[in-house]
Amino acid sequence: MNVNLRVWRQTDAQSAGHFVEYQANDINPNMSFLEMLDVVNEDLTKRGEEPIAFDHDCREGICGMCSCVINGEPHGPEYKVATCQTYMRSFHEGETITVEPFRAKAFPLIKDLIVDRTAFDRVIQAGGFISANTGSAPDGNDILVPKQNADLAMDAAACIGCGACVAACKNASAMLFVSAKVSHLNLLPQGQPEKERRVLAMVEQMDEEGFGACTVTGSCEAVCPKGISLNFITKMNRDYFGALLKSGGGKKQVSAET
Ligand code: SF4
Ligand code: FES
Repeated sequence: MNVNLRVWRQTDAQSAGHFVEYQANDINPNMSFLEMLDVVNEDLTKRGEEPIAFDHDCREGICGMCSCVINGEPHGPEYKVATCQTYMRSFHEGETITVEPFRAKAFPLIKDLIVDRTAFDRVIQAGGFISANTGSAPDGNDILVPKQNADLAMDAAACIGCGACVAACKNASAMLFVSAKVSHLNLLPQGQPEKERRVLAMVEQMDEEGFGACTVTGSCEAVCPKGISLNFITKMNRDYFGALLKSGGGKKQVSAET
């Protein structure tokens, strides 16, 4: 198949960006979107032109690196899949496809389609861990987890930290990501000792990074490749206000000590 591409090209955060048009010809419909970009880049390289910079790693929907907006939708037209699992058969012969980077103040552009998402790492560093005494592994049956909590924690743990929720939100809110990461640990027994400190610190870090407020439009859930539910935001708000009341209204730092 043949498609026309309109790709955002920008040398760095300081330079002005613009769309450049490319032809992608003789593309196998079963190629992934990233493989199609590989073909275009091979062609550009052979012609001595600068290849399109884009992020990727696992190419199987696990790492969350493949961040780009395709025809106005983070991760493209398919439901619950990342860009790397979007196949060219999802597009029409001769279609013009617009490809842009995620746009959010907290994700500054590095080059072309690559943005800096280390803000997410700093949110995780603020509280996305548990502190446990080391030693031999305890018997799994020693720590009983209610089935409902185990299932919910597993659903939350599916978040791959891609940032599509931020890119889709008109406020560039990171609430879906942060709520998944907080809930994953706060639902499990191992996460209980730091439960309150965790939610306060991660929300505080989220605010410091410049992410916007949540107005519950649901656009985050609609584009999430892992189907993370808005219910986790409700749960995090409950944990947050409970922790705030317990702390007397102040915010505490999470430390690695229990
Ligand atoms: S909540 Fe979904 S869209 Fe947001 S970072 Fe996690 S996997 Fe990506
Ligand atoms: S490249 Fe890893 S999720 Fe897409």
